[in-house]
Amino acid sequence: MLVNMRDLLQVAYENKFAVGSFNVANSEFVKVVVSAAEEQKSPAILQIHPNEINLVTDEFVAYVREAASKSKVPFVIHLDHGATIEDITRSIRNGYTSVMMDASHLPFEENMTLTKKAVELAHIVGVSVEGELGTIGSNEGSSEGGTDEILYTDPDEAAIFVEKTGIDTLAVAVGTSHGLYPKTKDHSIKIDRLMKINEKVKIPLVLHGGSDNPDEEIREAVKHGIAKINLSTDMKRAFYNQLRATLDENPDAYEPDLLMPEATKAAIELVKKKMDLFGSTDKASLYKLGEI
Ligand code: 13P
Repeated sequence: MLVNMRDLLQVAYENKFAVGSFNVANSEFVKVVVSAAEEQKSPAILQIHPNEINLVTDEFVAYVREAASKSKVPFVIHLDHGATIEDITRSIRNGYTSVMMDASHLPFEENMTLTKKAVELAHIVGVSVEGELGTIGSNEGSSEGGTDEILYTDPDEAAIFVEKTGIDTLAVAVGTSHGLYPKTKDHSIKIDRLMKINEKVKIPLVLHGGSDNPDEEIREAVKHGIAKINLSTDMKRAFYNQLRATLDENPDAYEPDLLMPEATKAAIELVKKKMDLFGSTDKASLYKLGEI
């Protein structure tokens, strides 16, 4: 079933687990996330970045909606890192049930103004909004964006930001970056800072850059308000590493129905493990929501 982010994450937040938000840039990844969620009886979020919708085109969302609505487990379709009001309106028109307005690169007041505008628009049609305060880091190879230097979220500013904008969820910068970390980079999750934000902000928090972090830190973050974890790199690597191996073993093969299943299976196994780690496995039964 298809729900909005506010309804999906309220249950996670109250029950102290996090829902994985996985970037689906083609139909194989939709199959990966839906199959893993059904096998684990877990809620899940299917997210699409502006770069990804440009790749797959708007028509793709009808397919994602169909796959999510037919399933018995709860799903959200979410815009990852919307940068403009055009990204927001395009996603609402396409049938997403949640959007992110990422104006985190702008000064505080301007970030608030743009995010509030997105909230006013999206809430009219029951679509949830994620805002971002502070900036997430970026590693080579990821096309998700972010900055070279992380700008950590300030807990007092976060409280003002949430109150003034009316957002449903807040993405926080607490040490993670998009992509794989170089060996020299400190990427520890700053749990103390997260605890302070969680004390001041009473809405579900979002952790971006969920790949390549130690499991123990992820478990700790989930205890302190993180109810949504974005994950792209680990899933895509599981898929493409297996696809490369399959292609190497079968140099003359070209049929997708021969090449894709092993890669899909590898990514499903990865996503299932993440659902266990995030604590969302077996939590679908907590939802008694109608479709929006
Ligand atoms: P990773 O690629 O590090 O998993 O980050 C994904 C993400 O945060 C998308 O917004």
